[in-house]
Amino acid sequence: MDSMFLNRLGAAFLLSGVCVWVCYATSSAVVPHTAPAKPAFSLPALDNKPIAPFMAHADAQRGDALVHQVCTNCHAVNDGASDGVGPNLSGVVGRPIAGLSGYSYSQALKAQHGHIWSDQALSDWLTAPARFAPGTRMSLVGLPDAAQRADIIAYLRTLGESDVPAPPASPGVTP
Ligand code: HEC
Repeated sequence: MDSMFLNRLGAAFLLSGVCVWVCYATSSAVVPHTAPAKPAFSLPALDNKPIAPFMAHADAQRGDALVHQVCTNCHAVNDGASDGVGPNLSGVVGRPIAGLSGYSYSQALKAQHGHIWSDQALSDWLTAPARFAPGTRMSLVGLPDAAQRADIIAYLRTLGESDVPAPPASPGVTP
């Protein structure tokens, strides 16, 4: 190895070091380090909408179809059927959250045990399960459409024995 080669090698290293520094300095000057005041996008699913106005127009038959499309992969809906990946949903409306003694709920859902599955609680849960109970094992991203959630809840009300009074009669207006 002659000294000319070593000189070139040294120069190459020096030059690349300078390049890296120039790039870093330029990019730091152009792109500010501060986080934006407002997030670039927001998830519409994260608003807890009051579900009552949607319940007035809810259709249990549409809910039936949706539940069999989206939920029954993991949930049984027939009275007395054994739990699937998730707990049996028969009679879930008005039941305490994490209320089946035979099902092994996550700590996240057990922590909510003091509450009841009301229409609103179900709606909030189905909007974004992971936000309602961070750490839940129900791996459903969520249903952003309030009308769909209302249909599903209307169907869930028809399952098993529910102590909850029926929702107000629909005035017959389609949403
Ligand atoms: C990928 C499987 C999966 C799908 C799909 C799914 N769930 Fe679940 N669900 C679960 C699991 C698992 C739990 C238990 C969660 C826990 O313990 O954290 C659960 C819990 C629940 C509970 C709480 C019940 C109780 O006894 O407290 C309700 C209500 C529920 N799911 C409704 C639904 C509805 C309605 C749908 C369809 C829109 C749905 N789930 C879709 C897996 C699923």
